[in-house]
Amino acid sequence: MASTLEALERWVNEVAALTRPAQIHWCDGSEDEYRTLVQQMLADGTLIELNQQTHPGCYLHRSHPSDVARVEHLTLVCHPNQEDTGPNNHWMDPAEAHAKMDALFAGCMEGRTMYVIPYCMGPIDSPLSRCGVEITDSPYVVANMKIMTRMGKAAQERIEREGLLSDGVFVKGLHSTGELDPDRRFIMHFPEERTIKSYGSGYGGNALLGKKCHALRIASNQARDEGWLAEHMLIVGIENPRGETHYIAAAFPSACGKTNLAMLIPPEGYRRDGWKVWTVGDDICWMRPGADGRLYAINPEAGFFGVAPGTSDSSNPNALKSIARDTIFTNVAVTADNQPWWEGLPGTPVTDWQGRPYDPANGPAAHPNSRFTVSAKQCPTWSPKAEDAQGVPISAIVFGGRRPSLLPLVMEARDWTHGVLMGAAMGSETTAAATGAVGVLRRDSMAMKPFAGYHYGDYFAHWLSFDRPGARLPKIYHVNWFRKGRDGKFLWPGFGDNLRVLEWMINRVEGKVSGVETPIGTLPATGELKLDGLAIDPATMDELLTMDRAGWQAELAAIGDYLDGFAPRLPAALRAEQQRVAGALGDMP
Ligand code: GDP
Ligand code: PGA
Ligand code: MN
Repeated sequence: MASTLEALERWVNEVAALTRPAQIHWCDGSEDEYRTLVQQMLADGTLIELNQQTHPGCYLHRSHPSDVARVEHLTLVCHPNQEDTGPNNHWMDPAEAHAKMDALFAGCMEGRTMYVIPYCMGPIDSPLSRCGVEITDSPYVVANMKIMTRMGKAAQERIEREGLLSDGVFVKGLHSTGELDPDRRFIMHFPEERTIKSYGSGYGGNALLGKKCHALRIASNQARDEGWLAEHMLIVGIENPRGETHYIAAAFPSACGKTNLAMLIPPEGYRRDGWKVWTVGDDICWMRPGADGRLYAINPEAGFFGVAPGTSDSSNPNALKSIARDTIFTNVAVTADNQPWWEGLPGTPVTDWQGRPYDPANGPAAHPNSRFTVSAKQCPTWSPKAEDAQGVPISAIVFGGRRPSLLPLVMEARDWTHGVLMGAAMGSETTAAATGAVGVLRRDSMAMKPFAGYHYGDYFAHWLSFDRPGARLPKIYHVNWFRKGRDGKFLWPGFGDNLRVLEWMINRVEGKVSGVETPIGTLPATGELKLDGLAIDPATMDELLTMDRAGWQAELAAIGDYLDGFAPRLPAALRAEQQRVAGALGDMP
């Protein structure tokens, strides 16, 4: 049996023979290596130095204007059997996909350096962690992977060690920025081979292969095979004044508030009473049942790749403090004194995200999907438990999206099956995180539409399978911070005040409040949501927390139609649950 190191070296040699780089650099993940790469990128213009007095160690990268977001129509999942891919993914036959990609990769690194990046998703010593190796010709990708993952020597050692157990099972990712031609751009996944091939984009989600490609699309396949869950969720710890902490995992689609909720600042009154919020993760959550039947979660990432616009001292001061130093900014604007700038910050931009003199006629100064990449350790609320090999026990799972109408502020599922239905039925208005129209309502089950690497019908069945004897599963909730009034303004203040909703959930978990049962789930009873210090009138609260029966009947019918799109693999139990809720709505007096 070949050792993992031999398997890795063989693959690196194969890739080098195909891509023909001038040299190969094995990344050790050291600070020295990072600094050298930064110097080199400053010299060739890949990075631009920002004001080092105000922002030490901060740099700006401008991506190609045609390469600023994930490209879902060019992102494919290549199961040998198309059926396994499901209607939720784009598919290509693996042999055809390999041939297509290898033709693009042929000779693409000529005259350039090929970087080999061993990385570990999750704490190095955690049994829940999984490793991968990304090969790339982009030093920008290396620098971002250094921030976003445990990358380098320790990861390579773990990969070599694990080979003794399982003959070299690490995820292989091959990336080249290519010529950035949108017609020669593909992000291909081969779940059976635990392999990713990405060509023609330098943008985060398409190029940092540890993130969405590995930790969600490939890992969702690993998770199904091995009995765990790889989800598009933040993980946040809520510590009450008695010092007890509940961990909550929440799935919101891209640009719908994960980073903000993960770094929430309690409202004034809560702070005074001693509530604290701990950030464990802001984007991805891997969970598995522990010996006690509870779900334990790790954040596989080591950094944040956050949306910059809207990040401000009033919306997310923790994020703003995190990015005051040692941060890579992508596609933000700059001020006259060379500080990073985006819509929502004080000050004035002089240069827009494309490097042009700022002119409002050209649209926003910072690209709406401009980003910061920063080590999680720089976050003031970074949880010490985030490095825990065993993960944190999850008390509640939350689903949510941008729903301008109908969906109440919060509702609780009556049991796991109902919760899985809530997750499957999730919908949200589209955002700038992916190319395409913004503000269109689409179903996005568990916020995994672009990321579930196999058939959604099988994925729902996998979720349902966790409800088994001995399981002590978290309660499941659905929230909507984005309900709008007739004037088009958000009804709920959101951000820090979302803690009021999380507190209600925790009170429910601890059996302290009873809520009001309705056919769509349990809603807070009057007085159960703590609203002290909040200027919100009772009529607005009423609107946020009442159920519009006719609207819900139409919604349940739409959910039924949507679920039927996954037949014949849709679990009968899920369709039955939809019928149960629809029936209960019909039976209402
Ligand atoms: P992520 O991509 O899911 O991590 O989303 P972010 O946390 O980066 O937030 C995306 C956008 O939603 C930003 O413009 C935020 O300002 C906005 N946002 C986040 N939380 C809330 C909230 O509670 N209410 C409202 N109205 N907007 C929010
Ligand atoms: P997000 O993911 O949009 O869910 O924050 C980052 C990405 O697009 O790569
Ligand atoms: Mn985010």
